[in-house]
Amino acid sequence: MDTSTIVILDFGSQYTQLIARRIREFNVFSVVLPCTTPLEKVRELKPKGIILSGGPSSVYDADAPAADPAVLKMELPVLGICYGLQFMTYHLGGKVESAPAREYGHAQVTVIEETPLFRGLPQTLDVWMSHGDEAKELPEGFRLTAKTSNAVAGIANEERKMWAVQFHPEVAHTRQGMELLKNFCIDICGAKADWTPEHFIQSTVKKIKAQVGDGHAICGLSGGVDSSVAAVLVAKAIGDRLTCIFVNNGVLRKEEFAKVQKTMREGLGLNVVAVDAGERFLTKLAGVTDPEKKRKIIGNEFIAVFDDEAGKIFQAEKSSGEEVAWLVQGTLYPDVIESSSVHGPSHTIKSHHNVGGLPDDMKLKLIEPLRDLFKDEVRRIGRDLGMPEEILERQPFPGPGLAVRILGEVTADRVALLQEADEIVVTEIKKAGLYRKVWQSFAVLLPVKSVGVMGDQRTYAYTCAIRAVESEDGMTADWAPLPYEVLRTISSRIVSEIRGINRVVYDITSKPPGTIEWE
Ligand code: XMP
Repeated sequence: MDTSTIVILDFGSQYTQLIARRIREFNVFSVVLPCTTPLEKVRELKPKGIILSGGPSSVYDADAPAADPAVLKMELPVLGICYGLQFMTYHLGGKVESAPAREYGHAQVTVIEETPLFRGLPQTLDVWMSHGDEAKELPEGFRLTAKTSNAVAGIANEERKMWAVQFHPEVAHTRQGMELLKNFCIDICGAKADWTPEHFIQSTVKKIKAQVGDGHAICGLSGGVDSSVAAVLVAKAIGDRLTCIFVNNGVLRKEEFAKVQKTMREGLGLNVVAVDAGERFLTKLAGVTDPEKKRKIIGNEFIAVFDDEAGKIFQAEKSSGEEVAWLVQGTLYPDVIESSSVHGPSHTIKSHHNVGGLPDDMKLKLIEPLRDLFKDEVRRIGRDLGMPEEILERQPFPGPGLAVRILGEVTADRVALLQEADEIVVTEIKKAGLYRKVWQSFAVLLPVKSVGVMGDQRTYAYTCAIRAVESEDGMTADWAPLPYEVLRTISSRIVSEIRGINRVVYDITSKPPGTIEWE
């Protein structure tokens, strides 16, 4: 099936992928490509239209993104957003200048002319602005279509099918942003709204079949949504030529090693090899307190265990004349953006081991079927694949597991303490009907001891912090205002049931400036 595609060229804005996601929300397929992508590559996708994203640079910067201005001559409809507007203005002969005041945040825009881009929108728009430069002189053939009290907010050259806005329609604060993007993609570009989960599944399965041929693949399972959906998709394409490896890294949740195996084998019919390597990981983690070191150790050890197992599978396959050449990973878009930088500006925040951590000599080729998607999109796909809600609704759990929730050294005793606390938090949050409402809810074990009393006994034990956040994609998050009753039950259960924790505190930090995990 041929899908209508909208190509988004990324000039480095933190919101770029949000544009794609908004467009996919109304079922039009869209992909993000670096703005430096050669135009032949863009053409190969047969796009119905192009969007030029925002970005932190100025068109006059020496290191301004090196995009080919010929993108404006492809005779396709183009929508410039923020930096995209300035790029268009500058390269078509207009003038861009540094604005007297940097505009950032909420703004009001007045629509001067109801062009097809603004069709059906009110005359005053509440929008989200973020820019330092502004268009001062419009290129020939362009008209001003919208403005703020002191700057250009929209321009158009209808004949050349070129449109641009200075604000960000993709950000939720721009209330009619979705309508604007719909006007562009569907009305102006003529894209069809045919990109559904079913379509994604069909085209991904087809692509994997073509890629892998009659080769074999392996996949590391974490028990979470991402790796399970990736595995089920690949298994749909290549059947039992996919072998999944599930490793107990010693920092899983309580009884998770057994539970996950059961669901994956019995619930999803996956071919699973389970490796109990808990001790091996904990030995390597002994004495380590630095968060990034913990991540690196777990990442490297995971790869070592994985390599061992893959080696065994290799040998077994080889003896039957086959070769394992592919590695499946459930990488999602937020992992990509936080682990690498698309074009400089999105800094590496944490070394998430599921991307970028693979050793150079790993000879397996990667299959990452979910690389462009956000978590909720993956859940939609999983639902269409008929996967159980228990897996799909599972809150995200980091690859380095409880190790990044145990501040200080990770020991078997501390893991056991945190497993108990985590179990209580999850149970109570589920009981209160909040598990699906919050993005993540968990316990963190602090290396801080304090004094308490239990009956007639004085205690001196660890502190446990409870963290619950609301988020759309994990990239930003607000701490969740859990009801006091739920907090009370969690706290009293933890202190009375877990010997070794005598104090519970609640984390009220949002992201930014905090991160979701404590390490
Ligand atoms: P932070 O703590 O960076 O977390 O705000 C954002 C999201 O990523 C998860 N996370 C990780 N996932 N490996 C992972 O696979 C990691 O090292 C890692 N660190 C954080 C975190 O749980 C949240 O969902």
